[in-house]
Amino acid sequence: MTNEFSDPGRVLVIVPTYNEAGNIAAVTARLRAAVPEADLLIADDNSPDGTGKIADELASEDPDGRIHVLHRPGKGGLGAAYLAGFRWGLDRGYDVLVEMDADGSHRPEELPRLLAALHWSDLVLGSRWVSGGAVVNWPASRKLLSRGGSTYSRLMLRLPVRDITGGFRAFRARTLLGLGLDEVQSQGYCFQVDLLRRAVQRGFTVTEVPITFVEREHGVSKMSRSIVVEALWRVTVWGIRG
Ligand code: GDD
Ligand code: MN
Repeated sequence: MTNEFSDPGRVLVIVPTYNEAGNIAAVTARLRAAVPEADLLIADDNSPDGTGKIADELASEDPDGRIHVLHRPGKGGLGAAYLAGFRWGLDRGYDVLVEMDADGSHRPEELPRLLAALHWSDLVLGSRWVSGGAVVNWPASRKLLSRGGSTYSRLMLRLPVRDITGGFRAFRARTLLGLGLDEVQSQGYCFQVDLLRRAVQRGFTVTEVPITFVEREHGVSKMSRSIVVEALWRVTVWGIRG
């Protein structure tokens, strides 16, 4: 199946990490097995638990040289890590850039389905809240927060999408280049809402593909009150400004 149509081009998977020492090796191995032709960029914010050092070891041990590490000076939020990762990948001419969490919640084995949908889309979202999508092992409180966040954003921003805050996504490079990334100020998880609203505003074709999100077994979520507050005020301001 290697004709020009089925080949998405050079793929870079960007995985932001902050204290993911217990997860990064496993997710790397799963990705290399599931999508061997993709490169991986680990964007680490100088994790105190030594994730960055483990990432360097994984990179030096990879026989195909497909693992890269971007060391950032300190915790700057998910959005800033992705922006730096996107720039790194765009500078190097990748055709497709993927967002994926380090903790196994986004299953690398589902990435081929996201990449397949990119054939007819400018942006593909792994979606928990469409038919066939699911969340495993989340407490009711977190489900409510995520669904509530998506519903509020959908109504405020009039976005025709069910999972607006999800973080398992595949972008064509030219989509990212059209989003005005230099103006993005979102630091926390509302970065995901920000990029999506920009894509919809600019008329890009967005497809939701059902995924099963599996809550992490090791380490802790970096979700915090300040991340929720940033998301709430930014979405509200975007919604009012229209
Ligand atoms: N470099 C860097 N810097 N990475 C970070 C930072 C940061 O400041 N904060 C979080 N990360 C990384 C984590 O290490 C992990 O790989 C990924 O970003 C997601 O963080 P989690 O803490 O595991 O997020 P979650 O499970 O609570 O949230 C999930 O749901 C959110 C809302 O739907 C993720 O899928 C998010 O992407 C999503 O927005
Ligand atoms: Mn997580």
